[in-house]
Amino acid sequence: MTTWKDKIDLDRLPKHIAIIMDGNGRWAKQRGKLRTFGHSHGVKAVRETAEAAAEIGIRFLTLYAFSTENWNRPQSEVNALMKLLVKTIHRETKTLHDNDIRLLAIGDLDSLPDVTYRELNDAIKETSDHKRMSMILALSYSSRWEITQAARKIALAVNENKLDPNTIDQKLFESYLITRNFPDPELLIRTSGEYRISNYLLWQIAYSELYFTPKLWPDFRKEDLYEAIVDFQKRERRFGKTSEQVIR
Ligand code: FPP
Repeated sequence: MTTWKDKIDLDRLPKHIAIIMDGNGRWAKQRGKLRTFGHSHGVKAVRETAEAAAEIGIRFLTLYAFSTENWNRPQSEVNALMKLLVKTIHRETKTLHDNDIRLLAIGDLDSLPDVTYRELNDAIKETSDHKRMSMILALSYSSRWEITQAARKIALAVNENKLDPNTIDQKLFESYLITRNFPDPELLIRTSGEYRISNYLLWQIAYSELYFTPKLWPDFRKEDLYEAIVDFQKRERRFGKTSEQVIR
């Protein structure tokens, strides 16, 4: 039986895949359970996706684990998610070592509870030598927060005469974003059948291919990632040019 993995052209892989992991709450509700049950089962999908991506040679995987807006969820759910993050990062560090994956994080990390911040930082340090793939957790992240803080830093630099406003162009602006060390994602995946971007990597996805699947996040498996990559490879990326101008 041919699998989605067999259909992937390994010479035309996206370097960076970003994912909006959605549908944990609905997955739990379908089973008559609390939303947090869905988040716990989402961890398996995170492990499978990270392994699947590393296995074929994806270099960057960015996962939307907690948005700035998620702080407005019921306190009990926020606490459960923070606890789950600590437990998962602790437990899954071995998976990261086994697969030569480096852990990184983007977001307003100072707003995380101390214990979450510490666990995250430990795992980031412990995996810093891994080279196969970078797994970037977007935590307490939102794009408008990121862009605003970049604008604030640029304004400060201008104010302190360290930056000439005439030199501000896209490249300079990008160097103030927290994603400055990563290439833009070529592919953005959202699960659970919702067609929204939800304040995620707005600057970086200017030319990304968008892929939506009805699968709820806890059901997402390796073959689902591979199917999304095959779909991506069928598309023609024109970056504003005409079809004829695009060299294939
Ligand atoms: C969205 O589902 C999911 C989240 C807000 C949290 C994602 C967290 C995990 C998958 C657990 C651990 C992750 C890592 C990276 C260690 P939702 O709650 O919005 O679902 P709904 O739309 O069905 O309500």
